[in-house]
Amino acid sequence: MRVLTIIPTYNEIESLPRTLDRLRAVAPATDVLVVDDNSPDGTGAAADTVAAADSAVHVLHRQGKEGLGAAYIAGFRWGLDAGYDILVEMDADGSHQPEELQRLLDALDRGADMVKGSRWIRGGKVVNWPLHRKLLSLGGSLYSRILLGVRVKDITGGFNAFRAETLKKIDLESVESVGYCFQVDLTWKTLKAGLDVREVPITFVEREFGDSKMSGGIVLESIILVTKWGLRSRWRKLTGRS
Ligand code: GDD
Ligand code: MN
Repeated sequence: MRVLTIIPTYNEIESLPRTLDRLRAVAPATDVLVVDDNSPDGTGAAADTVAAADSAVHVLHRQGKEGLGAAYIAGFRWGLDAGYDILVEMDADGSHQPEELQRLLDALDRGADMVKGSRWIRGGKVVNWPLHRKLLSLGGSLYSRILLGVRVKDITGGFNAFRAETLKKIDLESVESVGYCFQVDLTWKTLKAGLDVREVPITFVEREFGDSKMSGGIVLESIILVTKWGLRSRWRKLTGRS
């Protein structure tokens, strides 16, 4: 099985090299694709330097900051075209532990179509997050769970592993979210396709360097889209349309 871990970056000059070091040390058989949105701090060039010395590391340069969703879609396309069997999403800032990647891969091995690293199931943890981020994440998950009628506990989580076939089945063209709602979007599409989504516990550690790109706009997009998807699916059930 060929595995590609995709790491989107925007101004992660201090975090990215550390994350790449850890990932390459603990999962040397896994290739890496950094998707950089022309970070002003030179993250893209730093990624190129690592890639020049390590043939398992690749870099996709994009023109400008177009959001997490757009970066991942470009990364997925690159990985699917290159024939990888498994594609993984991972943040650059050290919040997702490379040492826990194998847990996600093991669950795929046991038959899941998509595996989510989960902070909000037994064994999952969040370290150093301020109360408002915890509440936002828990609230966002709960809101999505109720509106969409799904059981996934950490639907907004960004440490995810997919079989290539899963991504091929869920029509990436129709993804409409730009920001972090993209994570909900992918999970929802996978569930709607009748595929098996499982959660495994992870420890999410707040970044040590740089800043989160979370914004009011990202929250607003999530509320609007989740509400729209939830109401649409209820309406369709009610009117008997699929
Ligand atoms: N290429 C690119 N373009 N990368 C981006 C962009 C963008 O527009 N916006 C964010 N990123 C990258 C960051 O550089 C980082 O590697 C990763 O996406 C996550 O961004 P953060 O800004 O650190 O996210 P967070 O810690 O606030 O949010 C975490 O929790 C969210 C809610 O659960 C992440 O795990 C998200 O994926 C998750 O949805
Ligand atoms: Mn982060």
